[in-house]
Amino acid sequence: MIDPQCFSKRRNRFLSELSGHAAIIPAATMVQHHADCEYPFRQNSDFWYLTGFDEPDAVALFLPYRPSGEQFVLFVLPKDPTLEIWTGFRFGTEEAVNQFGADISHPIDELPIRLAEYLKGAQGIAFRVGKHPKVEPIVLKALNEELDQVERSGSLSLSLIAPCSLLHGLRLCKEPEEIELMREAAKISAKAHEMVREIACPGMNERQLQGVIEQYFLEHGARGPAYGSIVAGGDNACILHYTANNAPLNDGELLLIDAGCSLMDYYNGDITRTFPINGRFTGEQKAIYEVVLAAQQIALESALPGQNAEGIHDIAVRILVEGLLDLGLLKGSIDSVIEQGAYRHLYMHRTGHWLGLDVHDVGAYRLGEYPVKLQKGMILTVEPGIYISERCMVPDGQPAIDTRWKGIGIRIEDDVLVTDGKPEVLSKEAKKSVKDMEQ
Ligand code: GLY
Ligand code: MN
Ligand code: MN
Repeated sequence: MIDPQCFSKRRNRFLSELSGHAAIIPAATMVQHHADCEYPFRQNSDFWYLTGFDEPDAVALFLPYRPSGEQFVLFVLPKDPTLEIWTGFRFGTEEAVNQFGADISHPIDELPIRLAEYLKGAQGIAFRVGKHPKVEPIVLKALNEELDQVERSGSLSLSLIAPCSLLHGLRLCKEPEEIELMREAAKISAKAHEMVREIACPGMNERQLQGVIEQYFLEHGARGPAYGSIVAGGDNACILHYTANNAPLNDGELLLIDAGCSLMDYYNGDITRTFPINGRFTGEQKAIYEVVLAAQQIALESALPGQNAEGIHDIAVRILVEGLLDLGLLKGSIDSVIEQGAYRHLYMHRTGHWLGLDVHDVGAYRLGEYPVKLQKGMILTVEPGIYISERCMVPDGQPAIDTRWKGIGIRIEDDVLVTDGKPEVLSKEAKKSVKDMEQ
């Protein structure tokens, strides 16, 4: 668990970056699944990052222009013994102060009557529009009231800005406490992959293995899967967002598993491994696997300070294209194939993304013209693949694909921490050599 001091330091950094703006950061709300049933609660990552408060329907205010002792205000669901019988424990306003470091706390129902007062003196309001349908009308009403009075009150006209760039810049570089949790998330995820590979065999169903992997997450203290686990046998592996997970595992085919856990603190693992269901690659499967593995290994090693996500993608693409040319699955020169994107029927996604409290974590990849350079403390995935679907549409000028290659979908994905020196592969406990995949 993250130390409360750590949340307090984050809030102070955020407050100092707001330079006179008020920030309004809502918690998530419960989402209906159907009828009276709701999805399990998932906190808004921005709200969590600043508060560590894991309840729905709260709102945090950050007010840097107020005196110290009034800068962090938390509106929360109040204690209610009757409702808590149905929906569970609530900390309430008193504990929001005592345990979560709020300077002041109010019941959430009082937000509409109190917000305008708290916003007095702000140079502007940092609030993300379009994302919080319950809170947004309250914010806009308060802003509107303030604007109506600008001429009489003499206060500055309030602007509305998005808090994303400030907050997401902070979230992009992980603190030591966060890195520890990311190591843990990656480790649990990696061990689940190791275990599931040992038991997978022809005749099982994708769904059975999903159960096994997710059981492992829960047994090891995680909240659950970080995203819809992908357990994809054969050609299903070529569906990038496959989550049906309900087909039998066939002898002679590959199995792609893309699964990671989310910890109670919401930090996530995101790992993909691909292996032969019967324990032996065919010649074609092995050839493609080796190309993806080479691309992944070299791309991983290039996650060094000063490099950037696009650079890593380009490195991976070059090795994939080279390998596919050697196998006769592409034709032309490396440079022309890359320039024309003539490989995209076989590799159609990017090679990675930031990873943290969100699986596709926040943080810019480009700032205007410039790609964001990797720095110590950033965490990203490196996940090249090759997908030769039965449905593969070959572009003009590229060779038709022989059926012996069809139904091969391979991705290898690791989670990597940028350090001062060599990158640290957080998910290294999930093996990936050809030999290991055949055991
Ligand atoms: N599992 C989602 C991804 O790999 O990006
Ligand atoms: Mn990923
Ligand atoms: Mn993944």
